[in-house]
Amino acid sequence: MLLYIIDDNQTNLILFEQIAKLAAPEEKIKTFLDPSKALNDFESEKPDLVIIDYMMPDIDGIEFIKKIKKFSFSKEIPIIMVTAATDKEIRHRALDVGVTDFLTKPIDPLEVKTRLINLLALRRLHLRQKDLNVWLSDEILKATETIVSREEELVMRLAKAAEYRDPETGGHIQRMSHYSRVISEKLGMDKSYNDLIQKAAPMHDIGKLGIPDGILLKPGKLTYEEMEIMKLHSSIGSKILENSNSKLIQMGAEIALSHHEKWDGSGYPSGRKGEEIPISARIVAVADVFDALTSERPYKKAWKIEDAIGLLKENRNTHFDSKCVDVFLESIETILEIKSRFKDTKTEITKISEFDLNF
Ligand code: C2E
Ligand code: SIN
Ligand code: SIN
Ligand code: FE
Ligand code: FE
Repeated sequence: MLLYIIDDNQTNLILFEQIAKLAAPEEKIKTFLDPSKALNDFESEKPDLVIIDYMMPDIDGIEFIKKIKKFSFSKEIPIIMVTAATDKEIRHRALDVGVTDFLTKPIDPLEVKTRLINLLALRRLHLRQKDLNVWLSDEILKATETIVSREEELVMRLAKAAEYRDPETGGHIQRMSHYSRVISEKLGMDKSYNDLIQKAAPMHDIGKLGIPDGILLKPGKLTYEEMEIMKLHSSIGSKILENSNSKLIQMGAEIALSHHEKWDGSGYPSGRKGEEIPISARIVAVADVFDALTSERPYKKAWKIEDAIGLLKENRNTHFDSKCVDVFLESIETILEIKSRFKDTKTEITKISEFDLNF
């Protein structure tokens, strides 16, 4: 630590310095006869304690304190002012500008030493507390980052688990979640929403975990009854994800439940219409269908891009929220870039289940 002693009286200055050396043998001490000299380096040196005489010719103690209080760090350092015992009014003014303690002339060396020891102990404690606070908020930040990234990892692994049972490939999840982000960004949602929807979209079909293989992996068209069972994947997904404290999983549940609702109310499971359908699900509906159409499925060939665009346009106000379709089509270059970036790579298990089906 660094102590500043400022007194225009040489004898007092030396006396204070001697006492300070006894009180704080380990610390650096700087003495100044001229307060303006003390001001020069005050900001860069950031002393830890100041002893200042009140009565000085050019700048008095109170003026000096007013000047140093402009630096925010000096709000936290002990300032001891030396005055005559009778200067009640000066002491009150000094308290107003932020003096911590007083010493009275004539100086009592034992009293000065004890005050210094106490105030330095206070200062040391304060510094340690500050270090601790910095360390603690650093640790909290690190821990929070770890929790968030573990949560994201678990969500991706959950989506991957579902994928192993589903003929869809990892490419679908990557593409539709990136498409969803592009739509969300273009709609002008804020960054945290864009991040969230990209991470939550992969959970949309998690409920397919609850659909029997015979239906899920059926190579041909589903019968009416089979399709009714297939439609349960929305509510199953929402059951898997519901009542979470995590914003990410809450959005996952919302998307899982409502991604097959349609703008005109003809979708499932609730037949909600228009803006009753959460915006996250309206966004994901466009992203999911576009990718389902332009990808091969066990029950269908991949559509040409133009045909998929045609279907989106045709269903602007029936199946889809027209705003979502419009921004999607405005961003078609970005969409196609994402499509070519995340090509389908079939997982081992998918290959095995296909093999079983062919067998
Ligand atoms: P999915 O394959 O991920 O398809 C998601 C959505 O994309 C479908 O929701 C539908 O809105 C759209 N879509 C996909 N392929 C076509 C298509 O060839 N024509 C049209 N017009 N739209 C298409 P949807 O219909 O609610 O189906 C939900 C899920 O049910 C599908 O997810 C798929 O896993 C399954 N599914 C639907 N139809 C069949 C089918 O005929 N056979 C089999 N095996 N599964 C089907
Ligand atoms: C001074 O402190 O500046 C001189 C007068 C005194 O010591 O009382
Ligand atoms: C002095 O510092 O010069 C003496 C008077 C006082 O401190 O009040
Ligand atoms: Fe679905
Ligand atoms: Fe999907």
